[in-house]
This record gives sequence, structure tokens and C-alpha cells, in this order.
Amino acid sequence: MDYTNILTNQEGLVLTITINRPKQLNALNKETINELHHALTAANQDNAVGAVILTGSGEKAFVAGADIKEFADFSVEKGQALSAEGHELLFNFVEKMTKPVIAAINGFALGGGLELAMSAHIRIASDNARVGLPEVSLGVIPGYGGTQRLAQLVGRGKAFEMVTTAGMIGVEEAQSWGLVNHVVPHDELMALANKIAGKICKNSPNAISAAIRAINANYEDGVNGYQAEIEEFGNCFGTPEFVEGTTAFLEKRKANFRKD
Ligand code: CAA
Repeated sequence: MDYTNILTNQEGLVLTITINRPKQLNALNKETINELHHALTAANQDNAVGAVILTGSGEKAFVAGADIKEFADFSVEKGQALSAEGHELLFNFVEKMTKPVIAAINGFALGGGLELAMSAHIRIASDNARVGLPEVSLGVIPGYGGTQRLAQLVGRGKAFEMVTTAGMIGVEEAQSWGLVNHVVPHDELMALANKIAGKICKNSPNAISAAIRAINANYEDGVNGYQAEIEEFGNCFGTPEFVEGTTAFLEKRKANFRKD
């Protein structure tokens, strides 16, 4: 598939996907969400991809939200469909990827932009970034998982404040809230993202996928996260990667989980 709104670049085992609508501050229109879904689906199925980095094009924005121009005349039904499709195609999809997704927040991450970053497994930010959920200033609420994931990440108290004030915070505050893991100068952001991705790619792909499922299990209705962990842990013992990992340890060598 040829993409209009995203760029993909693979180096080694790391796939970088750049949302590329800089004139609209990388706002997520339907076409961009479909393209991201397509690229992420391919990455999920590709053994040659060990980790994915999501970032935005240009100096100014990661993603400035859902594309307001696209939904400005929507009805109740269309609004619900926009939200439901977004959850399914992108936000829940990212969270459930079998490979870790790192959001490299290179500028504004607002509304759907912060929601996309919060769907990712790891968030890092450059020092110029600003984050927030300004939807109530537009007469709507966060519709791409923000009301749920922000509260999970920073607690309900801070989530209520951020959502109801529609305010933005800088990266120092975001880091102190636990919303981003690391803050670096803008020109060091991608190097850090690649460094973290490189560390991930040395480990067992199967175990990483199992760990993602086990951590996510705690946030799924009716699922006991501890039970999910027990099952995922046990299943690892039946994999060649477990044999390789433990054998390598006992033989005092580095494990090679990607032999082909
Ligand atoms: N949707 C569509 N276009 C957007 C956009 C968005 N979310 N954010 C920015 N743009 C466009 C602007 O309309 C402008 O386009 P034109 O040049 O054609 O007018 C261009 O990007 C540059 O933006 P600004 O001129 O506004 O740049 P600025 O530096 O003055 O301000 C900003 C930057 C503070 C990020 C401001 O653009 C802004 O507030 N953007 C909207 C942020 C927002 O409200 N996001 C939430 C969207 S709703 C949502 O995400 C719903 C959901 O959960 C599903």
C-alpha cells in the first residue's frame, strides 16, 4: 500500500512510523488512521520487526489531535462511529500490539495525539513538547481512550484536572506525573527512542509479547491479571526461545533469539 500521510523507515529490527501531515500539525484524519492501522498490522505480522517507534513530522507537533475539520459537522451517530472505529483501528490496536510501541513525542501531543501516545507502551518526549486533552474546550470529550488511559497512567485526580481544564502541561510536569518516561533535547529524541528499541530487540520476542499481554490483562474487564500472568509465564516454557535464553545463560554466552 502506498501511504499519503505516514512515512515508514526500517533500520535493523526497528520500524519508525512518522505521521506526516506537518501543515495540519499531524492531525489524525480518517485516512491517516487507516494508514497507521495498515502499517501496524504489517509490523505485527513481520518477524523482522522487533519494535516500533511512532513520531510526528516536523519540529512542532507529534499529533495535535483528531482532525477537527473532518468531524466539525458530525451527528451523534457519526461521532460515536468515529470514536469506535478509532479505538478499534488504532488506539486499542497499538496497545495490543505484539511488539513494543514507543511514542517519541517531538512536540504538541494534544487530544487524539496524547491518546495515541498513551496507547503506546513507552513514551519519551523532547523538551519542547506540550501535552494535554483539550477536547472539552471544543464541546466534546476525549474519544480515543483518553478518559480511561490518562486515569490509568496518572491517577484519577490528575486526569480529572487535565480533562476538565483542557489545559496543557510541559514535559517536566508530564515526567513528574509519570506520563512520559524520559525527556531529552529535541535533537536527541530519536536517538533515545532507537536506543530503547535496540535494547528491546535483544530480548525474546515471544516473551516480550507475553509480557505485553500480561500487563494489559489487568485493564481488561473480567480478566484476572495474575491468572493471565501465570498462564503466559507457563506458556513461555514451551518455546524454543526459552530453551535458547536459559541455555545461553548456563553456557555464559549472549542469547540469540533471532537465529534466522
Ligand atoms: N485538527 C485539524 N487541524 C489542526 C489541528 C487539529 N486537531 N490542530 C492544528 N491544526 C491545523 C490548524 O487548523 C492550522 O491549519 P491552517 O493553517 O490551515 O489554519 C495548522 O494546523 C497550524 O495550526 P495553528 O495555526 O493553530 O498553530 P498554532 O501554533 O497557532 O497552535 C496548537 C498550535 C495550540 C496545537 C493549535 O493548533 C491547537 O490548539 N490545535 C487543536 C488542538 C486540539 O484541540 N486537539 C484536540 C482535537 S479533538 C480530539 O482529539 C478528539 C478525540 O479525542 C477523538
